[in-house]
This record gives sequence, C-alpha cells and structure tokens, in this order.
Amino acid sequence: MTRLLLLWALCCAPLVSPGSPAARPRISFLLDSSDRGLVHFSQRDVHNTTTLLLSDDGSTLYVGARNAILSLNVSDPGFITLKDKRDWSPSQTDIDSCKNKQKNAQVDCPNFIHVLQPLNSSHLYACGSYAYSPHDALLDTRTFTLTSVSTAKGRCPFNPFERNTAITVDGELFTGTTRDFKGTQPFISRHFSRDGGQAARLETSNDLLNEPTFISSSFDKKEGKLYFFFTEVLKEFRYIKEHKGARLAQVCKDDIGGQRTLQKKWTSFAKSLLLCQSQQQPFAILQDMFTLQPPEGDSSKETLFYGVFTSQWSQGSGPSAVCQFKMEKIRDVFSGPYKTFDPSKQQLSPAVTQRTAQGKCGLWNASDVVLEGVKKSFLSHNSVQAAGGGPLLVSTGPNGVGYSRLVVVTTQAANQREYTVLLLLTDKGFLHKVLLLDGGPHIIEEVQVFKEPQLVKSLLVSSSKGVVYVGWSGGVTVVPLAHCSSYPSCGQCVLAQDPFCSWDPAGQACTKSHTLEAAQDVETGNVMKVCPPLSSTPDPVELQTALNEVLILPCARPSDLATLSWTLAGLPLDQKHFLQRPDGGLSFVVVADTLGNYTCTSQEAGYHEVQAVFAVTPHSSSTVRARTSLGWTRLRAFGPATDPPPVEGDPAQDPTEAPTEDPAQEPAQDPAQDNHDEVQPSQEGGAARPTANCRIQDRSGEDVRGGHWQKSYHTELVVVSLLLALCASVVLLGLVHRWSQRVLPVSPKVLARPGDGTESQGSQGNPENDCILKQEHLAPEVKVMV
Ligand SMILES: *[C@@H]1O[C@H](CO)[C@@H](O)[C@H](O)[C@H]1NC(C)=O
Ligand SMILES: *[C@@H]1O[C@H](CO)[C@@H](O)[C@H](O)[C@H]1NC(C)=O
Ligand SMILES: *[C@@H]1O[C@H](CO)[C@@H](O)[C@H](O)[C@H]1NC(C)=O
Ligand SMILES: *[C@@H]1O[C@H](CO)[C@@H](O)[C@H](O)[C@H]1NC(C)=O
Ligand SMILES: *[C@@H]1O[C@H](CO)[C@@H](O)[C@H](O)[C@H]1NC(C)=O
Repeated sequence: MTRLLLLWALCCAPLVSPGSPAARPRISFLLDSSDRGLVHFSQRDVHNTTTLLLSDDGSTLYVGARNAILSLNVSDPGFITLKDKRDWSPSQTDIDSCKNKQKNAQVDCPNFIHVLQPLNSSHLYACGSYAYSPHDALLDTRTFTLTSVSTAKGRCPFNPFERNTAITVDGELFTGTTRDFKGTQPFISRHFSRDGGQAARLETSNDLLNEPTFISSSFDKKEGKLYFFFTEVLKEFRYIKEHKGARLAQVCKDDIGGQRTLQKKWTSFAKSLLLCQSQQQPFAILQDMFTLQPPEGDSSKETLFYGVFTSQWSQGSGPSAVCQFKMEKIRDVFSGPYKTFDPSKQQLSPAVTQRTAQGKCGLWNASDVVLEGVKKSFLSHNSVQAAGGGPLLVSTGPNGVGYSRLVVVTTQAANQREYTVLLLLTDKGFLHKVLLLDGGPHIIEEVQVFKEPQLVKSLLVSSSKGVVYVGWSGGVTVVPLAHCSSYPSCGQCVLAQDPFCSWDPAGQACTKSHTLEAAQDVETGNVMKVCPPLSSTPDPVELQTALNEVLILPCARPSDLATLSWTLAGLPLDQKHFLQRPDGGLSFVVVADTLGNYTCTSQEAGYHEVQAVFAVTPHSSSTVRARTSLGWTRLRAFGPATDPPPVEGDPAQDPTEAPTEDPAQEPAQDPAQDNHDEVQPSQEGGAARPTANCRIQDRSGEDVRGGHWQKSYHTELVVVSLLLALCASVVLLGLVHRWSQRVLPVSPKVLARPGDGTESQGSQGNPENDCILKQEHLAPEVKVMV
C-alpha cells in the first residue's frame, strides 16, 4: 500500500488539480411525477434491451433485446409504438450444447444482442451471444428480415455479461472483444474490408492487451483513426499486482498490416493511459465514454470525450468521476515518445524511445526494422490527462451516488451561447442532468427512471428530438431533456439555470423556445437581474382555529436548494414556541400571542419568493378536537397553492398545468412509497390525493412526536384524550362535516384543487374520512392540548 501511494505520488501527484465540490440536484422528480412525465415501452415478452440504435432520420429506434430485435416508431417523442419484431433465438441444439458447457439455460443461453450497428443504407449489422456461441447477421431494415446468419467468433463475446465495443465506418466493422469461450483472448479486429482477402481480419497480438474490459469506440474522420476505450491491468506498474487503469488505443482505419513483419496485424496500434484523478484519489476504472462530435462542418471545434470513471480501490458503489478529454491532447500524446517493451524480460523497459513510426498510418511498405520497432514500442510515454487537470464532477457525500452511463448534448441558450449538458445515469435509477459551467457543475435536476436499480446497458440521446432513451431489462424509457413548464414563475425558471428553458414574459410561462425578450441567466441564475420585480404575493389562506391547538402550516419547497423561513407579522419566529419541520411546515400551539399573519418565504441564491401566507385567527372553542383533525388533514391536503396562484407564489409542483404536455404519463405514484422522502422533501408538499395524505400524516405524526413537543404532553392526558378523541370524533364527525360545509372557513369544497380528482368523489368522499380517523389515532401524542 505504501508503495502504491508512493508510486501514485511520484507519477501522478503533480498533475492533480483541485477536485470539484460535490453538487446535489436542485430538484428531484420521482418516477412518473406529473411534472416530469416519461414515456415507457415494454412488452411482456421483451426483456434485456441491451443495445439501442437510432435511425439517421431519428424516427425509428432499433432495439437489441433477449432473443429478438425490435424496431420502434419514435417519430413522435410522446409515443412509442412497436413497428416490427424479429425473433432471433438460438436453436434447441445450441441451447443444449450451451447447457452441456455448465451454463444456465435461462441466464446464459438465450441470445443477448451485443452489437447493433448501421452497415449501409439498407442493412444493419447485429451480433449476439447466441447460447455462448456468438452469431452475427445482417438485418434488412426494409423487410425486417435477418440474412447471412453465421458464427461470429471475435466479433462479439460468448458471455452475455461481458462488455465489448463495435463501430462501423464506411461499411467496415471494427470490434473490441474477446474471441474465446472463457473470454481470455482480447482482440481488436476489422471485418468486411472492401479490399477483402488477406486484410480482412486484422488483429492485435496477445501481449498488446492485458485483460481489457472494452467500453466504447469512436472514429476520428480527420486522421482516419479509430479509438478504443477500455480498462485493463497496467503492466507498467508491475510492483502492484492487478493495478488497473483506463486506456485509449488507436488503429488506422486503412491499416492493412505489414508485408513480412506484422502480417495481418495492425501496424498502427498504439495505446496510452487515460488519467482521471482528483486530489483525493485516482479514478482508474472506466465505466462509459461518450464522444461529442463537433457540429458537421464546424472546424473551429474539436471532438471531445466524456468518461465516467470509478475507483478501483473503493468497494461497491463508491464515488465516481466525470472527466473530459480533448482530441488535440490525444493526438499530441500519440505523436510523442513511446515506452519500449522488452520481450526477453516480458516487461516494459524504462528506456523511452522517440517516436519513429509508432501510431502512424500507412506503414504497409515500411521496412522490417521499422515494423519490429513498432511491434515492441506501442505504449505512449505520456498519458492523456483530463482537460482542466481533473474531474469535472465527482459524486461524493454520505449518500453519494455512483454514475454508470452518460450521454452529452450541447444546446444554445437564449444568449446564443452553447452550453454542454451531461445526462448521467446513477446506480439508484435516476438520471442527473448536469450543466457544465466554468465555475463548476450545476445539477439542474434528477429524474427517476426506474424504481429498482437496474443494470442499464444502453443510453442514447437524440438532440433533434430532445429526448434520452434508456434501455433497461424491462423495456425502453424516454426521458425528455427538459420540461420547462414545471417551473411556475420567472424566478423558478431562472433559478433552474437550465439552458433549455427561459421565461417568456409575454406568455407568462417557462418555455423551450427562447424568445427575444426571454428571461434566462444560465451562468449565475440571477433572478433579480433578469426577472421583473414581484408585484404580488399569494392571497392569505384564512384559518380560524381554537386556542391551544397545535397547528401545522404547510409550505412546499420550490427546490431542494431553497431554504424556507417563516415570519409572523413580518417578524422572525423564536425557536422556543415554533418548530420548523424538515418538510418546511411550521408547527406551533395556537395561543393569543401566536395569532396573526404567517408568511413562508423561500430563499435561494439571494432570491426571496413568498410561497404561502396564512392568516390565523381565533375561533370559538366548541369544536376543538374535531376541528383539529380536520384542520390538519385539510392543511396537508391543499397547501398554499390552492389560492388562485399568483405566478410567483406557486411551489414547483402544480399538477394542473403539466398533463397537457405529457400525453403518455401515468397517474402520479404515491411518493410515500418511495424511500426518497429525505432526499426530496419537496415532493410531498403538493400532494393532493386523499390517499397520499393519509400516509403523509402518519409520517408527520412521527416527525412531531420526535420533535420538541414531547415534554409538553402528559401521559395521562394522552390516554384520556385518545378515548375522548375517538368517542367525540365518531359523534361529532357527521355533525362537524355537515356543519363545516356551511360555517368553517376551510371547507373541503374550497380546498379541492381543480383536476385533482377530489370533485369526482364528492366533497365529502370516504378517503377523507379515512384520513381523519387515522389522524385520530395519532392525535393524543401529537396535538391535543386541554
Ligand atoms: C436480463 O435481465 C434480468 C432481469 O430482468 C437480469 O437479471 C439479467 O442479469 C439480465 N441479463 C443480461 C445478460 O443482461
Ligand atoms: C409513427 O407514429 C406516428 C404517430 O406517432 C404516425 O403518424 C406514423 O404514421 C407512424 N409511422 C409508421 C411508419 O408507422
Ligand atoms: C448493404 O450491404 C448488404 C450486405 O453486404 C448488401 O446485400 C446490400 O446490397 C447493401 N445495400 C446497399 C444499399 O448498398
Ligand atoms: C508501396 O510502395 C510502392 C512503391 O514504393 C508503391 O507503388 C505502393 O503504392 C506502396 N503501397 C502502399 C500501400 O502505400
Ligand atoms: C393579515 O393580513 C390581512 C390582509 O393581508 C390584513 O387585513 C390583516 O389586518 C392582517 N392581520 C393582522 C393580525 O395583522
């Protein structure tokens, strides 16, 4: 270990830059939240969607699944429909022979599609594990039939769980995979060469790769080179067994091997170490790599590579890092000096050779001497450093998420500048949308894509359609890149710092199309600079309560970065008499001193916005207990947003406006079922369905029970109150209900939000009664004061 540290200090420490601070998402959207609807495609017999490929026109999504290839109509981002499905199952003989090799028939022996690549305008290339006997085929996209099915050793792995990479360029296929049953013979090869014959199967010799895990590949059109990204055991660090590192290898597209030396082998193979490390630790294991090509015809920009890395030394889902690499730097490293391999010692010698022919294209005619040199000197002396010297983003913290896959898009903001947005899939099933700024990353939002963490093998982005496709074991999910209308006010729209969204003052809405007058400040989110000052605050919600009740005033947090504060008649509250709950609500005992006007204000990045106003006034004491429970229920149920919402007053969730843009969305899930309540307190605030209220109340009860109130209750009173409350409520319930309709200022009719389903049950539906009764059980411990 000491050696390791020393080594690391020697080789890497001077290159390390300060790590970026860990950021957290500004807003969390749980699965199928009405504010962030997703579109799902699944079918009972479709499993393990391992590969995704989008047609050039973006209207068809090809999906490699277990024993099948599908084509989906995705021309409308709001719908997915099945166009075609081609079964591609191994024959019974193949399955039997797979089982005879001690493989599990269900787990290992189906045909899992490893590769789906365009070959030419009419055909796709597909390669699958095919019962541990890889097969490939051409798929005619017009007739959706499979042709030329044949065995395909060396084109994709035998093992369905092994990672591989493949890319087609001008009808030629380049693959990085293993070519044997055990998966021990790594191989970078070319197939379908136009010059045919002898050059058809260029390969790497064994000592060039050391137990690699292939991750991704990419084509550099300008230099005619292919890049392969992988993780392997680093032989240059031979002190440490199994020291792994991320690698980048290159070969030339038109390499046809040597004439006598390196026949049918790459003459252009070279590799380099990819470094992604923060001050605290090196991130050596590459998980995913995305190639961001500059826009067609834009020569001023270079290709950029974005990689997700994890650490070899942390177990389980440790922290992960995102690093950016520049093409320019990669070219520099491959044209610099090289290390030399000493075949007699089977190791790299410390001597460094200046580059002669290593990594060059067109060595077909080179002399044997030159090719011998190339053969033993293929590892660049310099490493490819991450741009900026270190990670763009490191996920850390106690609940640190691990990232597994990423895609990257650029988009033009209202100020005409291009911004880069990363979409990172976490190991907990969320997609993080991260804006890259000079000052550091900003996590605009996180969207839950599935409940159970999934092994996702494919993530695909379509900038033109503005969506991300996630292929997982249960099907395909479409995540829109942005959903601007979930931001209800200019302030919230600007605070989001989402380059896809800007506030349109004319339409009074946060939208995707940036108008000339659009309010947006992607860099700093400065609301005061770009939004007109707030002209109104929400109308106060009037609450008549009896004295000595415990009242809980709700207030929804517009974002997870906002802090909420309460004032009474404009003055801050003392902590002795008021308890601010983790969900932002305020609880206190109503006494003469605590009557008055309460205002809940959110504060984020220096911007204040009133979220709710309550006018608490006294009431006669005849209905104490029943009123308490009713008040509680109702308060939790409607929240401040019940008022005709002034644009700037409404918290982030307003179910009334979202559905129009999410035609395929399913009913919102009950947030209480997720174990995400700590992370996303804002999710509960706006819940308006009676069933959801019940759960929230149960939890609220616990919250308060654990809070500062305990001391003020006497056990005896509690027991008596429980009985009293139960009896009284049964008797009073009917009365009170009826009476409340006419007299109570807080009547359910007034409280029901349009479109939340409350009307359809009638204003006195059973679910609410359930809630009240549940509430009664909690009552004694929580709130009854006599
Ligand atoms: C296929 O999906 C199942 C879950 O549905 C998963 O357990 C299994 O590991 C997947 N197989 C592969 C090869 O990804
Ligand atoms: C694809 O779906 C759209 C509607 O979402 C439909 O208009 C179109 O005709 C479909 N295309 C094909 C080829 O089925
Ligand atoms: C595409 O390639 C296949 C297989 O090589 C060939 O049969 C087909 O004619 C090609 N199609 C076009 C349009 O070139
Ligand atoms: C090899 O060299 C000969 C003559 O020196 C030349 O005619 C031929 O084009 C070269 N071949 C390649 C592939 O560069
Ligand atoms: C509360 O506010 C309302 C209107 O905003 C005002 O009429 C009323 O006097 C205020 N009550 C107190 C106690 O300040």
